[in-house]
Amino acid sequence: MTTKVIKGGTVCTADRTYKADVLIEGEIIKQIGEDLKGDEYIDAEGAYVIPGGIDPHTHLEMPFMGTTAAETFESGTWAAACGGTTMVVDFCLPGEDGSIKNAINEWHRKSAPQICSDVGYHMAITGWNENVFNEMKDAVDMGVNSFKHFMAYKGALMIEDDEMFASFKRCRELGALPMVHAENGDLVAEMQQKFMAEGITGPEGHAYSRPPEFEGEAANRAITIADAAGVPLYIVHVSCEQAHEAIRRARQKGMRVYGEPLIQFLTLDESEYFKGDWMHSARRVMSPPFRNKEHQDSLWAGLQSGSLQVVATDHAAFTSEQKLMGKDNFCLIPNGSNGLEERLAVLWTEGVETGRLTPNEFVAATSTNVAKILNIYPKKGAIVEGADADIVVWDPKISKTISQANHHSVLDYNVFEGFNVKAQARYTLSRGDVIWAWGQNSQPQPGRGRFVPRPAFPSANVALSKWKELTAPKQIQRDPMNIPAGI
Ligand code: URP
Ligand code: ZN
Ligand code: ZN
Ligand code: ZN
Repeated sequence: MTTKVIKGGTVCTADRTYKADVLIEGEIIKQIGEDLKGDEYIDAEGAYVIPGGIDPHTHLEMPFMGTTAAETFESGTWAAACGGTTMVVDFCLPGEDGSIKNAINEWHRKSAPQICSDVGYHMAITGWNENVFNEMKDAVDMGVNSFKHFMAYKGALMIEDDEMFASFKRCRELGALPMVHAENGDLVAEMQQKFMAEGITGPEGHAYSRPPEFEGEAANRAITIADAAGVPLYIVHVSCEQAHEAIRRARQKGMRVYGEPLIQFLTLDESEYFKGDWMHSARRVMSPPFRNKEHQDSLWAGLQSGSLQVVATDHAAFTSEQKLMGKDNFCLIPNGSNGLEERLAVLWTEGVETGRLTPNEFVAATSTNVAKILNIYPKKGAIVEGADADIVVWDPKISKTISQANHHSVLDYNVFEGFNVKAQARYTLSRGDVIWAWGQNSQPQPGRGRFVPRPAFPSANVALSKWKELTAPKQIQRDPMNIPAGI
C-alpha cells in the first residue's frame, strides 16, 4: 500500500496545535510524528493540518416548495471539497408514499454515483403513524441516527407537537438524535397572510413574517418536549438570541441540547432584504431569515462560550430562475441559500482573523464537534492514528475574493459575492486521496465518495428526575362514596 506524508505543517485539532508530519497508509492515518518518511510527500510548510470540514446540514437535489434544489450530489460534494469540507450530512425527505426506508434508498440511488467525498443522512419526520414508528428503526439500522422535525412550513412539512413528542420518545428508545427546525409555523402562516393582504409581496415580507420571537418560542417548545421525552436535542439553523437563550438555559439545567448557527447568519444581516433589487433579496430568502447585528453577536458569543457547538451552511441552492417563482408572492420564493464551499474560509476570516475564535475552536465548530454529536468520532473529525485520512492542508496565506465567477457550485450567484477571505484549502484529502489541490486544475471524481453509517448512541437526558414521576404517576387513593355531609 502506498504511503503519503503530509510534511512540515502545524497540526491543529480541536484541542491542540503542534508541529508534526502525518503519515497516511491507504485511507487511514497511520502515524503522527517528526520526520516521517513515505512514498509521496504533500507540502504543508506554513500551513495548518486540520481534520476535513464536516457540514452537518445540506439539501442537495432536494424536492422543496414546488421545485428541486439545483445543487447536485456531485456539484455539492465537489464545491465542498474545494472549500475544505470532506463530508456532508444531507437531509433525506420522505417521498409521496411516506416511507422512510424508500426515501433513504432513493437518496442512496441519487447520491452514490455522484458523490466526490463522503456523506451521511438525517431523516425528516413529517407526520406520525405506525409505519413511521416502525421505519424509524429501519433508518437507524441503515445508519441514519438523526431525525429532523419541521416546526414550520405549515401545510407541507410541518409536524404537530403531539407527533413530535411521539417521535422524540421513539428517538429515545432507538438511541437516535431528534433535530428541529424551530419556528412557530402557525404564526408564520398568519403573518404571511397578513403582509400579503397589506400588499407587501416582496422578499422583505419574508423577514417581517418570521421574527426572532417565533423562533425562540419554537426552540423553547421543542426543548420542553425533548425534556419530557428524556432525549437530547439538536436545533438546526439557530439564527437569533431568543433561540440561543433557550439552548443556554437548557444546557445550564443539565440537558444535552445542541445549537447550530449557520455561516450565513454569522456574517450576513437582515439589511440584505431591504437593499438592492428584488433578486438580490430573493436570493437571500431562507428560513429563518438573516437577523440584525445584535443577533449575530449573540451567535458569535455562543461559539466562544460553547453554548453553540457547530457552524453549518444549510446549503439549499435555488437558481435565480427558481427564485422568480415568488416574484408576486414572497411566500413562494424557494427558501435556501449557499455556503458549502465558503463556510471554512468565511469562518476563518470573520472568526479567527478577527480574534473571535481560536484556530482550535474553528476546528471544533467546523468538524470535531459535528463528528462527536453525530457519532462518527474519531473516524471523522480527528487527526489521530486510525482515523480516516480526511485532512485539509489549510493555508492562512492564500486570500481570494469569493465570486460566482470562480466558485464550484452550479448556482448562478453567490450570497458571499465580493467577500475577501484570508485562507483557503491548499490540499483537501478524502480518505487519503488528494481530491483538491489549490491552483492545480483538480477535477471532480464523482462516485468515489461513500455513505458513512452513523450508529445509534444511547445518550438520554435521564439525570433530571422531574419527568420520571410523570411517566410513572402514583395513584392517589380516594373513596368516591365518601362525600362529606351537606354537599
Ligand atoms: O430556508 C431553508 N432553511 N431552506 C432549507 C430547508 C430548511 O428549512 O432547512
Ligand atoms: Zn399547530
Ligand atoms: Zn429547516
Ligand atoms: Zn435546512
